[in-house]
Amino acid sequence: MKKIMILNGPNLNNLGKREPEIYGKDTLSDIIEYTKEETKSLGVEIEAYQSNHEGEIIDLLYRARDEKFDGVVINAAAYSHYSIAIRDAIASVEIPCVEVHLSNIHARDEFRHKSVISAVCVGMISGFGKLVYPLGVRVLCEMK
Ligand code: DQA
Repeated sequence: MKKIMILNGPNLNNLGKREPEIYGKDTLSDIIEYTKEETKSLGVEIEAYQSNHEGEIIDLLYRARDEKFDGVVINAAAYSHYSIAIRDAIASVEIPCVEVHLSNIHARDEFRHKSVISAVCVGMISGFGKLVYPLGVRVLCEMK
């Protein structure tokens, strides 16, 4: 059975209340429940974390490595656009990471168009709302 970590960054704890016209009305726990439900048939074990702190996200990536997770679905939120430290941690743990964003970052403010973590992730899924999470899990399950 594959073990996948879902890692969410800053302000995603406020989903449901936060700019619902962009991010939808579901809370983060609604989205995690939905993801578990949608991926049930894959027989996958999912552990989900959220942190508003860069260093804590980095520590969770090392935890994923130490606890032998098979992959990480990461929404690094605003950190995606400038955290070289998170990028270096992803590169260093050598676990496949799929970058996800609820919104289409290319259709928004220019500063969101660039993600510094994309190059060290296996790929990016952006713009499909909560569906990006089960899609990310599916990608990791299908990887050898
Ligand atoms: C986000 C997009 C980021 O630009 C933003 O800072 C977020 C959420 C998304 O899921 O669409 O916090 O990662």
